[in-house]
Formats: sequence, structure tokens, C-alpha cells
Amino acid sequence: MKSVIGISLFSFFAIVASDDVYKLETKYIDVPIDHFSYTSDATFKLRYLINDTHHDKGGPIFFYTGNEGNINSFAQNTGFIFDIAEPFDALIVFAEHRFYGESMPFGNQSYVSPKNLGYLTSQQALADFVYVIDHLQNEYKSRWNGKKLPVIAFGGSYGGMLSAYIRMKYPASVLGAIASSAPIWQFNGLTPCEDFYRITTGVYASYSPKCANTIKNSWKAIRSFTQTPDNKKNLTSLWKLCNTPSTSDDIDKLVGWYSEILVNMAMVNYPYPTNFLTNLPAYPILQFCSTLDSYTWSDDYSLLKSIGDSLQIYTNYTKSAKCNDINETSSNVGESGWDFQACTEMVMPMCSVDSDMFENAAWDFNKYTNDCSKNFNVRPRSQNEPILEYGGKDISTASNIVFSNGLLDPWSSGGVLRRINDNIKIVVLPDGAHHYDLRGKNDEDTSSVKMVRSFHAKEIKRWLKKYYENYAQVHVI
Ligand SMILES: *[C@@H]1O[C@H](CO)[C@@H](O)[C@H](O)[C@H]1NC(C)=O
Ligand SMILES: *[C@@H]1O[C@H](CO)[C@@H](O)[C@H](O)[C@H]1NC(C)=O
Ligand SMILES: *[C@@H]1O[C@H](CO)[C@@H](O)[C@H](O)[C@H]1NC(C)=O
Ligand SMILES: *[C@@H]1O[C@H](CO)[C@@H](O)[C@H](O)[C@H]1NC(C)=O
Ligand SMILES: *[C@@H]1O[C@H](CO)[C@@H](O)[C@H](O)[C@H]1NC(C)=O
Repeated sequence: MKSVIGISLFSFFAIVASDDVYKLETKYIDVPIDHFSYTSDATFKLRYLINDTHHDKGGPIFFYTGNEGNINSFAQNTGFIFDIAEPFDALIVFAEHRFYGESMPFGNQSYVSPKNLGYLTSQQALADFVYVIDHLQNEYKSRWNGKKLPVIAFGGSYGGMLSAYIRMKYPASVLGAIASSAPIWQFNGLTPCEDFYRITTGVYASYSPKCANTIKNSWKAIRSFTQTPDNKKNLTSLWKLCNTPSTSDDIDKLVGWYSEILVNMAMVNYPYPTNFLTNLPAYPILQFCSTLDSYTWSDDYSLLKSIGDSLQIYTNYTKSAKCNDINETSSNVGESGWDFQACTEMVMPMCSVDSDMFENAAWDFNKYTNDCSKNFNVRPRSQNEPILEYGGKDISTASNIVFSNGLLDPWSSGGVLRRINDNIKIVVLPDGAHHYDLRGKNDEDTSSVKMVRSFHAKEIKRWLKKYYENYAQVHVI
């Protein structure tokens, strides 16, 4: 959604690897299209993935609250749950978020109109998840003499927001939540709008101030170099674009595409190669900056050449990309779903300022709503919906949640980084990227991620211990 917010938010045009590392069974459950009125009985099939190999007796349900994308790509990138399922005797479930992957309430008509898309909200999704949990409780009740299994929610990014929210809204269904890189405070008035790009800039500058400075110079270079049609063509071959940008809208799109890549590299700046967003080497920013720093540039052209070549770390790591389609990310269904959510309930104000390396951009809510109207024929009611719905900073009545954030993750800007109460734990990975702690273990893992993962396990154990003790008391009749 370049035209609206400059960058597309979580942007999971995630690759689904051809051979899955983690195996789960695919199931479907009928859930109401509208949980909040009784005017229609219409239902649709929500997909969830399940593996009960390690489940034993009263073992918990580890429940991943799916985000804005195909649920299997999250299952394949959340190895932490699989790593700890065996010692906890846990049942593993990944539930898909409605309007993503295969969980389309109106089939191939789901995205055709605001009338259909209107059922794409976090509240409806949480209610879906509660249906899935209830269904699982019935299905597995014989495993523990008819008793209710404890449920631990997990999620990263928007999924992490949902795991925190489901614990807050439905404490009877969910005992506790691991909310990783969950920017629940990336909303109006809760966080300065420039924090996101300030943090991103810091990551690049921490590898090399020169690299951040070259990037800072590149925006003006793009704008001035592409003034003439000939130079537009020139840049097209320099950056190996699929189509030559012609209008100023196209140049805006190009700028958005490029800045989105810079943000994405920070999000997935993991210490080993991954294929979450795309195929990438270990520490892609280190690779990008060392390539960029190896060039000397003297004018717009040589500057843009050095950027174009360096971007190949992200766009062409496999060496098999034909050309770069600056339309690509916005044409992806998963992303336009998130863009719709960002145009209704999830308005996250962002801006960039002189002191960061991005092109200056003020936060302009009026322009934002006009773009939403143009793209989706909807407007956000206000910037405050999620604050009314989920409490903003006033969450002191919540409990049994761990908020974890990597401080090198742009999204830590909206994360919960300070103490709320004794029953909400705040942990940080000083050197961590976006929901790094939810990934499976790896030989290259940093010591901070190992510590955070064992902290999660300890908290879950504590919640469960209390649950089983209380349960024994309450259910002795
Ligand atoms: C569940 O995971 C185990 C490995 O932990 C695997 O052997 C098994 O095939 C999986 N079950 C299903 C139904 O995919
Ligand atoms: C949409 O789905 C319907 C019903 O499943 C099917 O008959 C139709 O061919 C589909 N249309 C497109 C364009 O895929
Ligand atoms: C692109 O522009 C640069 C600098 O203006 C020039 O040296 C180069 O020859 C141009 N290349 C093409 C293919 O037009
Ligand atoms: C982006 O997509 C639109 C519509 O599909 C097309 O007209 C335009 O040429 C594309 N722009 C670029 C730069 O690829
Ligand atoms: C990707 O790399 C290959 C091999 O170096 C090159 O031929 C191709 O043009 C590159 N594609 C892009 C989009 O950079």
C-alpha cells in the first residue's frame, strides 16, 4: 500500500517452501461469517493445521493465532512451538486468519467489494479462533477425562497482537499468550510516528554510518534523475525493472518499493539464511551495506547504480530473478487484505523526518483516508478504533502475557517495552529482528534468543502449574 502509507506494513508475500520442514494435518471448521449479529446463519470453512503427535493427557493446546497470510508459511517459520511441544506434551494448532490463505468467507468473491471485505476484522478473526478452540476442547476432551485443556496462544507481528488480544478478550478460552514483536502501541498518540523509521535507520547505521548516509542521499537522486523519459529508461535497465515507470505515481511507487525492501531487510535480519519473505542470506543488512560501501559514487547515476546493484542481495539472492516488478507486493492478495485492515481498524500512523535515512514524509490522516477511499471505497472511522477496542496503553487488568521484542526490529517502535504489572512480562532481544524468538532453534542462534526462548518456556510452565492446581480445586465437587 505504497500510495497510502509509504510502505506496506507487515508485507508477508511469504514464500511457501516446496518441502515443508514441519508436518501438520490440514482441517477445516465451519464458522459464522458474522459473529456479531444474528441476522444471518451463513458460515464458511476456516482452515487450521494440527499435529497431535506429542499430545498427552492434560497437555496444553499451543495455539498460533494466524496473521495476514497463508497459515502454512507461519507454521514453517515458527519452529519454537514445535521445539517445545514434546516436553510440554502439547497439541500444536495453527489457525488461519479469515480472508487469507484458503480461509475465504466468500470464495473467490471475498475481495470484490467492501460489502464482503467488511467481515475482515481482527474482532471477527478472534471470534473465529475461539470457535476453533471450543471445537478442539470438545474433540480432545476424552484425553483428560472431559476436562478443559489449557490453551497457550502464540503469535508474531500482527499474529502477536492477536495472541495478546485473545488473552485479554477471552481469558476463559486462553490461559496465556506469547506475543512476539507485537506492535500493539503503533497507534494514534501511543508512539511518535517517526519511531519506526528512526529504528530502521539505526539498524543500518549500526552496520555502517556511510551506508545509511548513501541511502539518505538516494531519494533525491531518484527524484531528480528520473525527470526525463530517457533517464527513466536508463534507471529501468540499471535496476532491472520489469516496466519503465512513466508517471510521477510510478516514481512514488518505485520509491515505496525500495523503502519497503529496506524495512523488510531489517525485519528479517536474522543470523542465518532464511526464506520467510524471500530467499535471503544471513544478516542481509550487513551484506547490503558492505556491497554498497564498496562503491564510490559521484553523481545521481553512479549513486543509483550502487544502490541497484546492492539491492540484488534482496531481490536476486538466488540469481534467478528476471526483473523487478515494483507492482509485485501490492498485487499480492494477502497484502491487499492487510491494506484493507489498515484502511479500517488498523490505522498505524507513520512518518519520516530529517534525522532518519528515509525520504521525508509527514503523517497526513486526511490524505490517508482519501487514498483508502480511492483504493477500497472505505474510510477509517477514526484513528482511535483499536484503542477503544483493545485498550491502548491501559492494559493493566491483563495478565499472563509475555511481550517480546527485538530492539533491531522496526516494529519494536510499537511494542510494549515497559512494565505494566507483575503478570505481564516484558523481554527484549537487544540484537534481535522481527519475531526471531518464535523461529526454530539453529546453530547460529544468539545467546539472547536462547535466553528469551527459555524465559517463554518458564512462564508457560508457571501458568500451567497454577492452572492445574486451581483446576483441581475448582473441579472437586
Ligand atoms: C507431526 O509431527 C511429527 C514430528 O514431530 C511428524 O513425525 C508427524 O508426521 C506429524 N504428523 C502429521 C499428521 O503431520
Ligand atoms: C469462482 O468460484 C466459483 C465457485 O466456486 C467458480 O464456479 C468460478 O469459476 C470461480 N471464478 C473464477 C474467476 O475463478
Ligand atoms: C545512463 O545515464 C548515464 C549517466 O547519465 C550514462 O552515462 C549512460 O550512458 C546512460 N545509459 C543508457 C543506457 O542510456
Ligand atoms: C503496474 O501495474 C499497472 C497495472 O497493472 C501497469 O499499468 C503499470 O505499467 C505497472 N507499472 C510498473 C512500473 O510496473
Ligand atoms: C539476477 O542475477 C542474474 C545472474 O547474475 C542476472 O542475469 C539477472 O539479470 C539478475 N536479475 C535481477 C532482477 O537483478
